[in-house]
Amino acid sequence: MLSKSEHEPVLLSQVIEFLHFDDENMNDVGDMKRIVDCTLGLGGYSEEILRSFPAARVYALDRDSSAIARSEERLSEYTPRFKALHANFGAMGKVLSDFAPFDAFVFDLGVSNMQLTEARRGFSFQSDGPLDMRMDLGGEGKTAAEVLKNLSGDELAKVFAIYGEERYARRIALKIEENRKRGGTLETTAELVALIRGVLPAPVQRKMGTHPARRVFQALRIYVNDELEELKAGLASVESLASSRAIVVVVSYHSLEDRIVKHTFRAWEAEEKKGIVLTKHPVCAEFEEIGKNFKARSAKLRAFRFSGEGEGKTLKQRSKSKRSEG
Ligand SMILES: C[S@@+](CC[C@H](N)C(=O)[O-])C[C@H]1O[C@@H](n2cnc3c(N)ncnc32)[C@H](O)[C@@H]1O
Repeated sequence: MLSKSEHEPVLLSQVIEFLHFDDENMNDVGDMKRIVDCTLGLGGYSEEILRSFPAARVYALDRDSSAIARSEERLSEYTPRFKALHANFGAMGKVLSDFAPFDAFVFDLGVSNMQLTEARRGFSFQSDGPLDMRMDLGGEGKTAAEVLKNLSGDELAKVFAIYGEERYARRIALKIEENRKRGGTLETTAELVALIRGVLPAPVQRKMGTHPARRVFQALRIYVNDELEELKAGLASVESLASSRAIVVVVSYHSLEDRIVKHTFRAWEAEEKKGIVLTKHPVCAEFEEIGKNFKARSAKLRAFRFSGEGEGKTLKQRSKSKRSEG
């Protein structure tokens, strides 16, 4: 059994509510047959979906084999309704095509608490560990330490500026280059944190209101795991795997991801006439949830519903017209 702090799914009730989206053509939850949890993690979403939709089958993906092993064991009572698959978004089409079409897809992006709190994974600037940061530990990609060793100063500055929106990107990258030239190592999270602390002016660090290394760690994690291209590939696969009235719910944690989701959903609605955006504005966590779970502060949920008819109403407009109808 997971402890509460280890396992606190973000915006869970809102995700489930969207999966129950009251639609005149799909108002029976028994219609929800096949649901994909694209980011299994500790299985919080999958578990609640399996409970809320007793007739559904859940196909859950994760690129992290330890998340698969742990959640498979934890949710074993739901076999055969629950099937975990070790794959990244880029491979979604391949691993899921035999089971398609699907009635819903949920994404809860980024890293899990389990990944964050295990120092040996290298995601955390709070605890010392090797600079790895690969979601699939021991997988094929380059580690964060290898990226810091092999990218030029200019390339690193771009990574920190684009993926971390770090104001001091160039200065930090120059310091890393200097450190390399002097034969210094940058193998652990503590070494990287110390280097960043040495670059950022002290008054800036005092006023930041967040850890001085947060942005660089975010940037490296996104780069190491190619997170933005993965997200685009995942959403493209959804298009090909979705049933005609499928629901897609995405929870993201930073503006780069949110922008991709927003633009994709808009294009599906306005240009491709594939269905409707159910969230005119993103749904955010309530104060109460943020108080209990700090991670929820930056969460943004967006939802889309495919339809064969090319409708153009948002959820708000739909509920308004429903209210005025009666
Ligand atoms: C925030 S956690 C999900 C937590 C889950 N909703 C829960 O309630 O336990 C995100 C998970 O998605 C996985 N993930 C992130 N990007 C992925 C990708 N491109 N392909 C497959 N899995 C991915 C991570 O390895 C991580 O385990």
